[in-house]
Amino acid sequence: MTKEVAENGWSEAQADLRRAFEENGHPMWVREGRDVVAVNRAALLHYGYSRGEFVALTIDDLTATEAPAKEHSPGQPLASHGVEYPPGFSKHRRRDGSLIEVEVTSSAVTYHGRPASLDSILDVTYRRQADVQARYLDLVLATITDAVVTSDENLILTSWNTAAEAIFGRRADEVLGQPVALVLRTNFLDVERAEAIRKLVDTGRFHGELTYRRGDGRPIHIESRVVAHFDSDGKRRGYLSVNRDITERNYADEAIRSLLKEVLTAQELERRRIARELHDETAQTLTTLLVGLRAIEDAKDLHQALGGASGLRASVSAALEGVKRMSRGLRPSVLDDLGLQEALERLGLEVSRANGFIVDVHAAGSRLPRLPEAVETTLYRVVQEALTNASKHASPKVVSVLIHRTPGEVRLVIEDDGKGFDVSDTHSEGQLGLMGIRERVHLVGGSVTIESSCGQGTTICVTVPFAGREPSSP
Ligand SMILES: Nc1ncnc2c1ncn2[C@@H]1O[C@H](COP(=O)(O)OP(=O)(O)OP(=O)(O)O)[C@@H](O)[C@H]1O
Ligand SMILES: [Mg+2]
Repeated sequence: MTKEVAENGWSEAQADLRRAFEENGHPMWVREGRDVVAVNRAALLHYGYSRGEFVALTIDDLTATEAPAKEHSPGQPLASHGVEYPPGFSKHRRRDGSLIEVEVTSSAVTYHGRPASLDSILDVTYRRQADVQARYLDLVLATITDAVVTSDENLILTSWNTAAEAIFGRRADEVLGQPVALVLRTNFLDVERAEAIRKLVDTGRFHGELTYRRGDGRPIHIESRVVAHFDSDGKRRGYLSVNRDITERNYADEAIRSLLKEVLTAQELERRRIARELHDETAQTLTTLLVGLRAIEDAKDLHQALGGASGLRASVSAALEGVKRMSRGLRPSVLDDLGLQEALERLGLEVSRANGFIVDVHAAGSRLPRLPEAVETTLYRVVQEALTNASKHASPKVVSVLIHRTPGEVRLVIEDDGKGFDVSDTHSEGQLGLMGIRERVHLVGGSVTIESSCGQGTTICVTVPFAGREPSSP
């Protein structure tokens, strides 16, 4: 078929259609089969061809090869005269080689008295890119763990992501369209609420901490960043806020602070105890010694001097015992010399003698080989505290200490048959023993369970994983 570079293929009756075609702001063309036979000005501008070049093209010259296979292609033959085809998406190549995504609407028309197709082109490149970006944004908002909340310029909620539902405990459909102030009854930390809102409105920014009480009553801490967003004319359209639940972080910070405080207090108490012992025992004995020595100096005869000296020997040996006890308390050197099992046996004997209850230390299986120093010290300190607690609080008849080592771990069970106590009673200030046990064991990667109830005795069970040598024979 010969091509005509003319727009006069329309009949008289189609004058309106011709005008609508030629003056349309969207690219349009008429094709017979796959050949373009007429084209409007908008198409020439959009695709960059002259009219002569354009009407020499077929639809295949315009269609980029990677056009989606299933979608309607304007090159498809028309089914019947006068039928409007469904819109189809395609990719077209412009004269300069650039690709555009288009939505093509084809209508059956009569041109030069013959059936033809009128294709109207909508360039959807930017729309498709915006769709992709919107889908990407939806995905980010759905997966992000921060609560992302937007509001319009009047602080009416306009979006509320999945994390906002989880953190604030309210569903999007319950809160959208409501005023922020009504939904998020937050308290600001370090700044007055009115002041924070004024600052946000004035500067378009806010960063600070808030507290919020959820519907289920749980208070949470939120770190919030809010920024205003604007349209292309610079008019404020609303606010975007990103909120992070920092409740756990704050608890952890608080726990560290209170632990540090308690460690410092414990250190101070320990110093005071040592100072007192040094003063009350060692210094007292040395004073006695001084006085006794002076008495010996002043002795009238050898017999009197010898009597004084033997009295002093008893004082010196008491002082020596006191110093030894103190140094054992500071660092159980017996551990270094004898190993854990024997050190515990000695400790048990000492506590038993001093308190009048039986302390039964036994190891399951063969004798324990040496464990890493940190593990031995930890287990020794745990037993020391447990025995001190038994003597202070439990009035037991028997305390049993069992150490059991398997290839992978060491297990220590200390059980008394004393008064017992309510373990769920929260730890109060000045009671550091059980907390110290937990902290020490956690530091060597182990775990602790404490079971007790009034009248039923107390069992402390410690397990420390151990990746050392297999137990060797003693
Ligand atoms: N074996 C036990 N039998 C009965 N009650 C116990 C026993 N162990 C601990 N308790 C109770 O648990 C509380 C906490 O013990 P914890 O060792 O933490 O503190 P404390 O012994 O009171 O003080 P600290 O150990 O700091 O000198 C004790 O005050 C006591 O009431
Ligand atoms: Mg204690």
